[in-house]
Amino acid sequence: MCDTGNGSVALPRIGEKAPAFKAVTTQGEINFPADYSGSWVILFSHPADFTPVCTSEFMTFATMEDKFAQANCKLVGLSVDGLYSHIAWLRTIKEKIEYRGMKNVEVRFPLIEDITMEVARKYGMIQPGESSTKAVRAVFFIDTKGIIRAMIYYPLSLGRNFDELYRIVIALQTADAFGVALPADWRPGDEVIVPPAGSCGVAKERMEGQSDMKCYDWFFCTKQLDKDKVLGTILKK
Ligand code: BEZ
Repeated sequence: MCDTGNGSVALPRIGEKAPAFKAVTTQGEINFPADYSGSWVILFSHPADFTPVCTSEFMTFATMEDKFAQANCKLVGLSVDGLYSHIAWLRTIKEKIEYRGMKNVEVRFPLIEDITMEVARKYGMIQPGESSTKAVRAVFFIDTKGIIRAMIYYPLSLGRNFDELYRIVIALQTADAFGVALPADWRPGDEVIVPPAGSCGVAKERMEGQSDMKCYDWFFCTKQLDKDKVLGTILKK
């Protein structure tokens, strides 16, 4: 996050390079986002180790790690706690917590220690209206070239929906791979919007003679895109 000189701060923005940093994590040092070139990565923050909502989130995310990996997406966590707190918390989760059918959960993705808040500030994760000593629940979706493609911020009191985070990864990759846009609540197998937003006029021309397209009006055309085709393209075999 940059100080603009007038007291306000500039948050990272969609379409821009993810701010770079080096950090110590539970899996060793990382150079972000350079170390993740060629992969999608979700960089996310949580308010504090040894807290209940965060524990439920880490157990859920860790359980889904292989699913994200199949979509070429790695996970990186961050809080303003220190490394030894992170290690002790993750060990407690693995050894002691059984929650909603999840137990013996090992968090294998890196968790950044950010006691100086340097990284958290760069990414607008410290939002003083919510807390000036803890990061909010931020989520950054960063593509294979290190570009921020989507972001979400949740308050301290609300745990994230990890199915939605997965849906976002699949949707962004589908938009890229097939040159389409995705309508409200889209899931693989649902109809997709053609052409992508910004060139609506072309849709009507293309419509003629294309039986797989359906137009609700001149500016709103869709086509079917099979679930198998989407997942076969995106997911690793
Ligand atoms: C939690 O994860 O439970 C939590 C963390 C910080 C503030 C409130 C709740």
